[in-house]
Amino acid sequence: MATPTRAMPGPFSGLSVKLIATLIVVILAVEVVIYLPSAASFRQSWLNDRLRVGTVAARVLDAVPDAMDLPRMLTDRLLTSAGAIAIVYRREGQSQLIELEGAETPREALTVDMRQRDPATLILGALDTLLFGSNRTLRIVGNEDGQADRTIEVLMPEAPLRAELLLYSRNLFFLSVILAIITSAVLYVFVSRILIAPIRRLTGNLVEFSGAPENAALIVVPSDRRDEIGIMERELAAMESDIYSMLRQRRHLADLGLAVAKINHDLRNTLTSAQLLSDQVANVDDPKVQRLAPRLVQSIDKAIGFAQSVLDYGRQSATPPRPVPVDLHLLLDEAAFDAGLVGHPTVRWRNGVPDAVTISADPDQFARIFDNLLKNAREALEAANGKIEAPYVEIGYSETADWLTLSVSDNGPGLPPRARDNLFVAFEGSARAGGTGLGLAIARELTEAHGGKIGFVDQPQGTRFDVTLPRSIRIA
Ligand SMILES: Nc1ncnc2c1ncn2[C@@H]1O[C@H](COP(=O)(O)OP(=O)(O)OP(=O)(O)O)[C@@H](O)[C@H]1O
Ligand SMILES: [Mg+2]
Repeated sequence: MATPTRAMPGPFSGLSVKLIATLIVVILAVEVVIYLPSAASFRQSWLNDRLRVGTVAARVLDAVPDAMDLPRMLTDRLLTSAGAIAIVYRREGQSQLIELEGAETPREALTVDMRQRDPATLILGALDTLLFGSNRTLRIVGNEDGQADRTIEVLMPEAPLRAELLLYSRNLFFLSVILAIITSAVLYVFVSRILIAPIRRLTGNLVEFSGAPENAALIVVPSDRRDEIGIMERELAAMESDIYSMLRQRRHLADLGLAVAKINHDLRNTLTSAQLLSDQVANVDDPKVQRLAPRLVQSIDKAIGFAQSVLDYGRQSATPPRPVPVDLHLLLDEAAFDAGLVGHPTVRWRNGVPDAVTISADPDQFARIFDNLLKNAREALEAANGKIEAPYVEIGYSETADWLTLSVSDNGPGLPPRARDNLFVAFEGSARAGGTGLGLAIARELTEAHGGKIGFVDQPQGTRFDVTLPRSIRIA
């Protein structure tokens, strides 16, 4: 019974693949967000280091009364240890400069002010170094240990900074990838164990159970988990055992119904033979027999009618409607004929459905809805014994954008209270001698099978039932 739509998901559409893909994407996105500030801070501390070496060099210079007296070798050493081409030390309006011997001081340099520390500038600076920093010279400017009047400038090429920043980024990238893989693997294992495996088990069970709901062995056995999955398992188990017992009950009822139908069938045949006999008995001349025979015939007729309608009810509810295009006006005329309204001596019949309305419906079942409603109306009018002036039964027709309504109305005595209380309930609703109480129940069942609704509409006089059907039933 398993159809393709019920199959389990394939290897690339299941939950686990979606989960792992989402995890990796999210982790990498997070890493990018973390990378920018950390690259900025790497660059900042690198530059700070240079500035600090520059500061040390400047102090040394400061300690010597005349910087020009320093041996060249020493100043060059100081500068190379700072990676600098030149260092400028400004204090109290004076400035001192030491330069690397033979190095050409470039005319243009990009100033990096270490006193500016807002995150956006730092991040932009790091990106700038990475993208354009291969050939530039930097002028790193800072104060000496927070003393605003003493500034140090270190002039140096940007390329070494860029190279280290690239190395740092590459390492961080590999680390991120390893981290993403490890994190998603750990999460994957964890989530698979806790979530996906139980969900797969439940889905598999659902698919299997719906294929064979009469098999009690397929009812899921809940684990003793206390979380949502545990609740789901227990609820599913409860639901499956409900379905299982409902199915069993339904089968028993169906068996019983079948037995009743067989008994009823035989009973009807026996009664039919009794009817033939009673007809003959009615012909016997004995006056006592003449007096009793009509009542005998009547009771047997009633019993046959009952047996017949129970049989019909059983048969009717079993099959789903098989819709074909039908002409509504004609169909209702036929139903009126079956209900004994066409050519009736006293009751006038009016079919208010316009010509050429075609609907898609099961002709037999659809006609039976109106057969029952029209027959009820005729019976009520006949039972009124001529007390109603110009008795009539009619069917009105109206349409809205969504609905199509057929209203069956008569000017009879109206619904008796007993019938109102049990409207549409099989075997309960009858309020007339010889009624089975099935007509309205059948009408409702068949209307609903066609996607519609049937309702009683209160009237000052007479009775009206509205059969409302989805507008889509009309095809022309
Ligand atoms: N148009 C009507 N006017 C007056 N009473 C009605 C009308 N239609 C239905 N009834 C009342 O509703 C009751 C229930 O109707 P329903 O068709 O279900 O059963 P029934 O006619 O008694 O039996 P069955 O149709 O099975 O032979 C009827 O007995 C009747 O009293
Ligand atoms: Mg009836």
